[in-house]
Amino acid sequence: MYSTDQLRNHFTAVLNDNWQDGFTIPCQGLYPFQWFWDSGFIALGWAHLDMDRAKQEILALLKGQWSNGFIPHIVFHNPSDSYYPGPEVYRADLSEHAPEIPTSGITQPPVTGFVLQDMFRISGNSQELLFFIDSIYDQVFANHQYFYENRDPNMEGLVYICHNWEAGTDNTPVWDLIWDTFSVPEYQLNRKDTKLIDASHRPSDAEYRYYIHLVELFKSWNYQDDLIAEQCPFLIQDPLFNSMLIASNRSLIWLGELLGRDQQVEQLRAWTELAVQGMNDKLYDPDLKGYVYYDLRGERKLPYLSSSSFAPLMAQIPSASQADEMIGHLCGGRFGGKDQENFLCASFDPLSEWFESSRYWRGPVWINLNWIIYKGLRNYQLNTEAEQIKKDTLDLLTKYGCFEYFEPSREMNEGLKAGYGGNNFSWSAALGLDLLNQ
Ligand code: SER
Repeated sequence: MYSTDQLRNHFTAVLNDNWQDGFTIPCQGLYPFQWFWDSGFIALGWAHLDMDRAKQEILALLKGQWSNGFIPHIVFHNPSDSYYPGPEVYRADLSEHAPEIPTSGITQPPVTGFVLQDMFRISGNSQELLFFIDSIYDQVFANHQYFYENRDPNMEGLVYICHNWEAGTDNTPVWDLIWDTFSVPEYQLNRKDTKLIDASHRPSDAEYRYYIHLVELFKSWNYQDDLIAEQCPFLIQDPLFNSMLIASNRSLIWLGELLGRDQQVEQLRAWTELAVQGMNDKLYDPDLKGYVYYDLRGERKLPYLSSSSFAPLMAQIPSASQADEMIGHLCGGRFGGKDQENFLCASFDPLSEWFESSRYWRGPVWINLNWIIYKGLRNYQLNTEAEQIKKDTLDLLTKYGCFEYFEPSREMNEGLKAGYGGNNFSWSAALGLDLLNQ
């Protein structure tokens, strides 16, 4: 149990310990490289402590950018044998676009745009930071262009993900419906994660075989986007991923106007308009009252609620009345439960038969999704729900410190001494710090 001052010091210590001279690892051992969306959230934490490190974090990520604008989900700045799959599995060099530095060959939710806007705000609108943003604006824009030009085959403003690790929500139960359509070889896995933490809190080996199978397919196609779009058996329009892209579009528009980047702003506006319409027409489920996934390969909606269902609030996608409907799930609803028996916000519908409260993205509370939902609720002045999720987030961090994910049930938490997954986890620290400063 930490006091507020101790908590602030703990957050700072976690970020300092995970700093690697130029970038920040998510956590010792379990994640020993730089990850795309982690680095964005981490940069926000640094922005409160040391703006120079926040800038270095973003620059280190962009070192891994491919020549077609793609940003990989891992940049392997350093060797490490504590993580699988490493660069020798991804073989990003098979792509004609890959940079010299080893990277993975899949991406992650594109958070960089809104992170830059937040860094600017935290800097007190510093001119120097605006120069920095100007110096990398083309690279971030190129990343958005990559998505809209290569991953939206129906031109509906919704980009696809082609690997579950691209979602960020690695093993959400919804993917089980996709894995059911797969048959895969008996790959020999060399997992390190389950040697480091409780295997019952991680995805299963059977799931890892599907994950590796997709990477093997991408390698057989030399990571060519047209072949992936034509043939990949996992092709999903994800409400969280698209919301992060749209929120980042909006921030790039805002920053682009300050920087006089008229043409890029015009293009970003066009993408955003189509994207918002696509989200509401195709991914909003009026019966479930939330946004859901669409399986492009199977041409079917996957109608299940997860914490990703609420992410569109952050990108100002729902109308005010849709937002009102959606929040019925939080306080007293399916996610909060009667008398708020659960901490907000479980990563998967707690009333679903597939919910598992301690297994990675099949139920536990994650700090980054809470932060995203908190920002979204604030956009709509839904202050009661916003305060509840902020309080729940800080209560969990105060009780346990910076774990990777947490048990949602209040009752079960009474008997627990720790959170789940990795400890001293960077984005839990960075976003905890940002919430303390809100
Ligand atoms: N989160 C994934 C892992 O557990 C990779 O992005 O390795």
